Amino acid sequence: MFKPLATILSLIFVLFGCAAAFAETAFEREAAADRDARMAWFREAKFGIFIHWGLYSVPAGEWKEKKNYGEWIFEKAHIPMSEYEKFRDRLNPVKFDAAAWVALAKQAGMKYIVITSKHHDGFAMFDTKLTDWGIMSTPFRRDPLKELAAECKKAGLKFCVYYSIMDWHHPDYAPRRSWNDTAKGEPDMDRYVPFMKGQLKELVTNYGPLGILWFDGEWEKTWTHQRGKDLYAYVRGLQPDIIINNRVGKNRKGMKGISVGKEIVGDYGTPEQEIPADGLPPGVDWESCMTMNKYWGYNKYDHDWKSSTTMIRMLIDIVSKGGNYLLNVGPTAEGLIPGPSVERLREIGKWMKTNGESIYGASACPFPKAPAWGRITRKPGILYLHVFDWPKDGKLSLPLPDGKPTSAYLLADPKRSPLEITPQATGVEISLPSKAPDATASVVVLEIAEK
Ligand code: GLC
Repeated sequence: MFKPLATILSLIFVLFGCAAAFAETAFEREAAADRDARMAWFREAKFGIFIHWGLYSVPAGEWKEKKNYGEWIFEKAHIPMSEYEKFRDRLNPVKFDAAAWVALAKQAGMKYIVITSKHHDGFAMFDTKLTDWGIMSTPFRRDPLKELAAECKKAGLKFCVYYSIMDWHHPDYAPRRSWNDTAKGEPDMDRYVPFMKGQLKELVTNYGPLGILWFDGEWEKTWTHQRGKDLYAYVRGLQPDIIINNRVGKNRKGMKGISVGKEIVGDYGTPEQEIPADGLPPGVDWESCMTMNKYWGYNKYDHDWKSSTTMIRMLIDIVSKGGNYLLNVGPTAEGLIPGPSVERLREIGKWMKTNGESIYGASACPFPKAPAWGRITRKPGILYLHVFDWPKDGKLSLPLPDGKPTSAYLLADPKRSPLEITPQATGVEISLPSKAPDATASVVVLEIAEK
C-alpha cells in the first residue's frame, strides 16, 4: 500500500480504538457524585410498574391443551416459529389506552414504567425500522411505546424500557432453537450485536430520554462479559445519564440478582421474585421485580393472585432494606390490564396516598434487625415505624441506641396529634390508640434529634 495512506489509515484506527476505550473507562470511572446525581430519581422513586406485553399475550398461556405458559411459551412448548409467527395477525389491542395505563400506575403511587420493548421472542412492541418482526406489522399498526412515552411525559413518570438480549427469532442470535424453522443461514452474534445496537439507538432516540434500560436474557454462553461492557458503554454513550440494570453483564448471581466479581457491569442489582433477607450490601442500588400472580406475560388461567396487603408489605419490606419495588402486570392481547391487577393497584394507591411519605426517598432501616411488629424506613431526623401487627396493649416498643425522640404521631392523622413517648432502659415506648388506622400497615412517624 502507498505508505502515507497506510500511515493515515493506521492513525485513524488508533484514534477510533482510543475513543472507544476512553468511552468505556470514562463510564467505569464515574465520580461518586456524578453517579449519585444520575441515580437520584431512582433512589427517590422506590416504586415502579413492570409491564410484560408482547405477542405471547395472544395465546394467553395456552398451547395444545396445556395451560401453564406465559411469555416463555415459544420456548417451553416448542412452538415451530412458522406457527408462532401466525399470532402476529391476531394481535390487535384496540382497547389499549396509554393514558389509562399511565393514570393507573400514577394513582397506585408508582413513579416509573418499565415496559418490554422486546422480550425473548424478539418481537418489537415499538416502531423499528430494522425488522418487520414487530407491532407495526400487526393489524394494530400503532406504536404503543410512543403513546406511553408521551403519556408518561405528561404525567411526570419516568419512561423506561426492558430489552431482551436473548432473541429466539433473529436468525443471527445464537444458540438458535431447532424449532425456529423460519431463520435461514448460520447464526452469527457479531452480526446480531449491531442489529441490537440499532434497535437500542431507535429506543433511546425516538422514545427518550429514557429512565432505565432494563436488560434481560444475558445468561446464554454466547453473551460475554466483554460484550456486556461494550453494550453498557454504547448505551451510556447514546444517553449519558441513563440508568442500566446489571443484566447487561455476566456477573448476576441467580435470582438473588446481585452482581459479584471484580468487574461489575450495570448500575443496580435485580433480585427476581424475592426480597433479599438483609437487602444488598450498603451502597449497592437494587430493585426487586415481582409478579402479582404467577406469570409475567398474560395467562388467562393464572388466578394465583397475591393480596394487596401482601404487596404493600413487600413494598415496605423492600424500602426498609434499601431497595425499589418493580411490580408487574401482564396486559391482554386486547390491550387491557387484567381486572384483578387493576383492583390491587387501586388498593395499593389508597395506602400510598396516605402513607407515601414513608416510602418516597426513604432509606433503609438503621438497625440491623427489623422489629417483630413490622418494618422501619428512615429519612434524616425521622423514623417511619410501619406497624403490621398492632400491639394489643397499645404499647409499641423500639430500641433506640442513638438519638433523642422529640415527637411521634400517626401518618394517617391529619391533625398530627402527639402520641405519648416513654423512655425505656434500651429505647422508647410509644402509646398507640386502641385501633390501627390501617389493617395492612399503619405508620407512626417518630421525629428524633439525631446524633
Ligand atoms: C426473567 C424471565 C422473564 C421475565 C424477567 C423479569 O428472567 O426470563 O420472562 O421477563 O426475568 O425479571
